Amino acid sequence: MKQPIKGFSKLTKEAKLEWLAATYSKNPEATIAFLQSYWHEDAKVQKLHDDFIENTVTNYYMPFGVAPNFKINGKLYTIPMAIEESSVVAAAAKAAGFWLERGGFKASVIATKKIGHVHFMYEGAVEKLTTFIEAITPKFFEDTEGLTANMRARGGGILNIELKDKTAAMDNYFQLEAHFETCDSMGANFINSCLEQFAKTLTSEVQKSDLFTAAEKDIQIVMCILSNYTPDCVVRAEVSCPVSQLNADEGISPETFAMKFQRAVRIAEIEPYRATTHNKGIYNGIDAVVIATGNDFRAIEAAGHTYASKDGQYRSLTHCEVKDGQFRFWIEVPMALGTVGGLTKLHPMVKFAHQMLGNPNAEELMCVIAASGLAQNFAALRALTTTGIQKGHMKMHLLNILNQLEATEEEIAEIKAYFEDKVVTHSDVVKKFCEVRGIEVPTPKVKQ
Ligand code: MEV
Repeated sequence: MKQPIKGFSKLTKEAKLEWLAATYSKNPEATIAFLQSYWHEDAKVQKLHDDFIENTVTNYYMPFGVAPNFKINGKLYTIPMAIEESSVVAAAAKAAGFWLERGGFKASVIATKKIGHVHFMYEGAVEKLTTFIEAITPKFFEDTEGLTANMRARGGGILNIELKDKTAAMDNYFQLEAHFETCDSMGANFINSCLEQFAKTLTSEVQKSDLFTAAEKDIQIVMCILSNYTPDCVVRAEVSCPVSQLNADEGISPETFAMKFQRAVRIAEIEPYRATTHNKGIYNGIDAVVIATGNDFRAIEAAGHTYASKDGQYRSLTHCEVKDGQFRFWIEVPMALGTVGGLTKLHPMVKFAHQMLGNPNAEELMCVIAASGLAQNFAALRALTTTGIQKGHMKMHLLNILNQLEATEEEIAEIKAYFEDKVVTHSDVVKKFCEVRGIEVPTPKVKQ
């Protein structure tokens, strides 16, 4: 049985590798060499990656692809995407090309406010607490002046602080809810630092106040944390064209395509099972750019899924209208991100991604990412409502299967040519591979 290890994080990187290899490999030497083969040759760059997280032992490669021809608000972008799923970049590029000839994407930021809470317990009269919080609100601003100075100089800072009575949902539960403008930074550290100071101010001001009884003074801070649900930090992107220009080039008329497409979006608006997959496809496009630009994709996804349920049912984040011969397709999605701070100036590939996009500010990046999500959803729905998803998906996956089979360059070229006009399935690829290599097709093992 494997034994737990104490003090692992204190070991040197070499000792960590040795322990890992000795514990999880039959050939420790080869395993260490394998892990080290993913180290960057420039020790300085490797050190940078080592320091991003604790216990780094090596690097984990992910493809960094680009989707060109995205016209967004009249400007042409090549969008960086870091993702492992074969068909995502191809789909984005295809949708970008389609809309390039039809006016491109129009995107705008609806709002950029972030939100955070001091969650606390108070056993006493609500009116007293309300009066007290109103009275000490200037003190919250005063006590955080040092923390907010830089942000205020950039045009941001704390916007407002409000008391929220949550006792209907949980006995004695209150919040200090604060809104923030964090300009071009995601602002998580800034917000959390402000919230922690609010909690200190609240606790000390309560002690000084003669408004409360001794029991009421026993305010208990539960936690201070930003909320990743950002319904007031939202971006909208849209594409539109006359229905007659919707040449679906898949053997159906533009009118039939528009009708089928709109129906597919409607299903995702009313049916949570479909909405989940539909929105997952949107996040294929969003996450890939969020990761490439060094932002927190978990935060952005979490916000999106809550936003998709804002009326009590989980629904599509995109919408479609076909009216008076015009096709309109749009997305409205929360997008709390940054173009300064975090990894943005640290990770060499992230730096390059920002450079490719022309070093956008946060609002411009929000527009680019929303357009990428919309493009991805357009490509998926276009395939789903015409040829089906597998044709394009498996075509892109073909290389993965061939690489798994360790096919040579010549074999890959021959097999790719063979599947040019055929639907790709895993078993057909294996069969063709065996034929090209002149070996017997393996019989699938049946589980006993
Ligand atoms: C696959 O990663 C994403 C799709 O399933 C999205 C969708 O169904 O809309 C193709």
